[in-house]
Amino acid sequence: MITVSRNSLGEPVFHLRAGGASYILTVFHGFLLHLYCGAAISDDDPEWLLVRVGHDSVVPRPASTPEGWFSLDIAPLEYPAYGTGDYRPSAVMLRSLGGNVTPGSAATALCYVSHEIVRGKPVPEADRQPAVYASPDEADTLIVTAEDPADGVRVRLYYIVLRALPVFCRRAVIENSSPAPAELERAYSASLDFTGLSRPAELLHLWGTWGRERHIERTPLCHGTVSVSSRRGASSHHHNPFAALVEDTTTEDSGLAVGVSLIYSGNFEILCDTDPFGSIRLLAGIDPTDFRWRLEPGETFVTPEAVIAVSDEGLGKMSHAFHRLFREHLCRGEWRDRERPVLVNNWEATYFRFDSEKLLAIAKDAADCGIEMLVMDDGWFGERNDDRSSLGDWFVNEEKLPGGLAPLVERVNALGLRFGIWFEPEMISPKSKLFEAHPDWVLSTAGRERSIARSQYVLDLTRADVRDYIVDAVSSILSSANIEYVKWDFNRNLTEAASASLPAERQGEIFHRYVLGLYDVLERITAAHPRLLLEGCSSGGGRYDPAMLYYSPQFWTSDDTDAMERLDIQLGTSMVYPPSSMSCHVSASPNHQTGRETSFVTRGHVAMGGAFGYELDLTMLTDEEKSLVKRQIADYHRYYALINRGDFHRLILPDDRVNSKSGRAAAWMVVSEDKSEALVTFVVIRTSIHPVYFLRLRGLDPAALYEDGEGHAYRGDSLMRAGLNLTKNYRDGESVVIHLTRRDA
Ligand code: GLA
Repeated sequence: MITVSRNSLGEPVFHLRAGGASYILTVFHGFLLHLYCGAAISDDDPEWLLVRVGHDSVVPRPASTPEGWFSLDIAPLEYPAYGTGDYRPSAVMLRSLGGNVTPGSAATALCYVSHEIVRGKPVPEADRQPAVYASPDEADTLIVTAEDPADGVRVRLYYIVLRALPVFCRRAVIENSSPAPAELERAYSASLDFTGLSRPAELLHLWGTWGRERHIERTPLCHGTVSVSSRRGASSHHHNPFAALVEDTTTEDSGLAVGVSLIYSGNFEILCDTDPFGSIRLLAGIDPTDFRWRLEPGETFVTPEAVIAVSDEGLGKMSHAFHRLFREHLCRGEWRDRERPVLVNNWEATYFRFDSEKLLAIAKDAADCGIEMLVMDDGWFGERNDDRSSLGDWFVNEEKLPGGLAPLVERVNALGLRFGIWFEPEMISPKSKLFEAHPDWVLSTAGRERSIARSQYVLDLTRADVRDYIVDAVSSILSSANIEYVKWDFNRNLTEAASASLPAERQGEIFHRYVLGLYDVLERITAAHPRLLLEGCSSGGGRYDPAMLYYSPQFWTSDDTDAMERLDIQLGTSMVYPPSSMSCHVSASPNHQTGRETSFVTRGHVAMGGAFGYELDLTMLTDEEKSLVKRQIADYHRYYALINRGDFHRLILPDDRVNSKSGRAAAWMVVSEDKSEALVTFVVIRTSIHPVYFLRLRGLDPAALYEDGEGHAYRGDSLMRAGLNLTKNYRDGESVVIHLTRRDA
């Protein structure tokens, strides 16, 4: 709901209410000020929150504002512009190339012009970037227009309220309404100024690298800037486009957590800047390092969308808001809600050494065990026998697959399995027919050596001809056989990011144009193949971001399939992303990445944390292991709805101290929406002598009686306050799964 009232100056105040949260902004002497973002409050105009401090000589003020204390340098601004007295990091910076102001200057002051409230969620400027979708019954949108008549920049700020969720979406549309061209040098999606937090603030974010994605880190804010970003051309393994502002006392179930997630797959930055008066500015958007966007007169730039999820009951509630939003308002297509097939992928089974017969042997065992899909990974095309050639040559290697794809797929289908395939369409190997024909299709800087990574270059997706080639190449393979799934990989980052097809003044647009090009390709392929299940991948989870979930409802979480390593990765990922989006496979032991041995049972328990499958040579399994596979698949079907649609609760993170002191463990649970059942997973990472474990559960009905299937029954409040007594002499890597069902009186 959005209400508009008038403040003491007679200017509008906007109160956005969503799922127990409030967001309030006001016009103040023409400027757009931020008053509040947090748990719902009832006052419409908490103007007393404005801070009136600062010394005149260091905080300049707009000459035309009557209030002596008012300065853009201390005011909480909704969309701060650079160059007119706010020295904090700005959301927008525009360099005018002519017109009324000094050509080449960059100074903007944005003042309110008008506003409009729309039912539903309009798409600005027919924009085609991934964004949250909602029906007119589910959302309201406030559009505030502000402008600077001097340099001719007009900004439309979109605020989207999802009525049922504590979520606000924001984006900006920046228009050059002057008669001369201009260049955008910064264009963030959202800015949030916090004043008066009652506790010291921290930034919670997800860091990582290859094989170690999305580990949770909390860092205290300092005076100055703390930021996370990517300048790799992809959202990256290193930082995820997510961060939450929390208090130092915030836990899973108490305290403030304001999370910001950027729906974007390219270079991004999320920063927190703390000023001397304790105000904190949080900015989220495209990283400005190598970003420059030219706007001809009348042209607009639409930023990616940022999602803000608000909780005053800790991190769990924030995660629930993101999970539901992404599951129900971002993922699309037939597979959004359909039960995903249990698959076996041959990568860790065979790497590049396979042929039709080997794949069929795996498929046969897969069918016997109840697996539903075979995925043929890298190595099926061109002359690809290792990772040094053939990317771009998307035709079947008939030495490995005699007769092409169709006969293989038919035989796999005849065994009762679906068939899926791996692609890495954005890449080109220097050793490929495609490179011989089109060396200019590579992103590269003339006169400079091309950096190489995994023996490959990146195709120039800013070019329409390159995008057409990718769409045609992928489509012709997809229509050559009954292919029902694609794993879309992206295994290196961008370097020397320049395009032979763009003029000098547009080379600063490459990184963003690349991402827009990728969206275009994915949109065309998913629209042409609506039944396809697309799984995203980027050397594991190097592009696991909300924009990719718009096209692919699941993502390969990490190339590290070690169950113990996956605990940090999957629990970190759960901070923002729903279990239904996390692809998790049982792989061989000893594990190929770490050499660690883990039992088949525990590998299954951990992989059951998301979209479940196998990544090993089934033909090598013992009969006992095969019967475990059958049992795991039966469990997967039994608990599918619970795991994929229930509320996910982190109970113990691998770094938490648990009550046995010397041991280490991890635990999580999912609870059905009606609280009638729950699935609890507890994994001992490192045991100790006589460890004592009490596991306090979350999210249950306190008054209900829950049965554990072993003849015990417990009250919900006892399970949540006293905890389950899981004390036992565990071995390293041992795990327990408990299914609780409510006994209905
Ligand atoms: C990447 C993926 C792996 C596998 C290989 C194939 O590393 O993350 O799962 O597909 O590529 O080359």
